Amino acid sequence: MDIFQVLKKDHQEAKELFKKIKETGPRAAKSREKLFAQLKCDLEAHSYGEENVFYPLLKEHAEMEDLVDEAMEEHEEVADLLGDLEDLDHESDEWNTKLAELKKNVEHHVKEEEGKIFKMAKSILSKEEVQTLAQEFQDSKKQATAS
Ligand SMILES: [Fe+2]
Ligand SMILES: [Fe+2]
Repeated sequence: MDIFQVLKKDHQEAKELFKKIKETGPRAAKSREKLFAQLKCDLEAHSYGEENVFYPLLKEHAEMEDLVDEAMEEHEEVADLLGDLEDLDHESDEWNTKLAELKKNVEHHVKEEEGKIFKMAKSILSKEEVQTLAQEFQDSKKQATAS
């Protein structure tokens, strides 16, 4: 798989986790907690990997700078929301509202990333970079979960 396929796969998995969390009923607090912990861990590792191996390479190209900066800001918003959600009572209305907000943010971010960013990156990165980045991204993600 190349970097684009790897990132897309992660995005898809996050989408499925959101769906699963939504499907957990009021009496499934434990499984909701587990699924959310998984989502948080996945999203954090994904952002970490992108920020450490994917975005820096893109930022070497001046024309990508604004898009990458915007993406980094969106990562920060997602991180804040994940922190809030962890602290809130997972069965409260507030939690559900925040989760919907997180989902909206993630969906927007993924759309921009798979759209604008991937499109420009594809024209900028070499064939070799697209391949090696995939492995570097996976390695970086492992670092994130180990720390
Ligand atoms: Fe991503
Ligand atoms: Fe991202």
